[in-house]
Amino acid sequence: MALPKRVVLVGPMGAGKSTIGRLLAREMGYRFLDSDRMIEERCGANIPWIFDVEGEQGFRQRESSMLAELAEQDGTVLATGGGAVMATANHDLLKHQAVVVYLCTSIEQQVERTRKDRNRPLLQNDNPEAVLRDLFSLRDPIYRKLADIVMLTDKKSPRLVVRQLMNKL
Ligand code: S3P
Repeated sequence: MALPKRVVLVGPMGAGKSTIGRLLAREMGYRFLDSDRMIEERCGANIPWIFDVEGEQGFRQRESSMLAELAEQDGTVLATGGGAVMATANHDLLKHQAVVVYLCTSIEQQVERTRKDRNRPLLQNDNPEAVLRDLFSLRDPIYRKLADIVMLTDKKSPRLVVRQLMNKL
């Protein structure tokens, strides 16, 4: 069967969207796009700086404009930021001619994979685990609603996830 024109990866921080996205793109012969990294390049500053100076709202505006731009590009695998699904206006952009994959990941894995990270402003506080839990209960139903494929990533290597995805696309 023909491959979809685009694949969009959604899911929480620490789900492995960038790692899996890069591998999947290579496997499909597609280009890999990482919305967070492209926002940083465009802005010439990292995400903590954007949150500091422009607030979360400023970051969200940049994120929505970036998604509008990226929604046009076929032959791509796009890794989105964990909060990209929160603006309903982004839903059509994410689904535009794309298969949306939810990389579903336990809180334990999210905590483990984000433990030493300093580039995620929402987790720079005393209790990142509680934040991840709250975000998960808010966002999990939205990820599920948008997704064409729900893929569990716990206890799986990125290579295995990609192999399983290739069978489902
Ligand atoms: C965010 C997730 C981050 C990044 C920003 C906000 C979120 O992306 O977009 O720090 O709201 O969950 P990753 O999911 O790639 O870590």
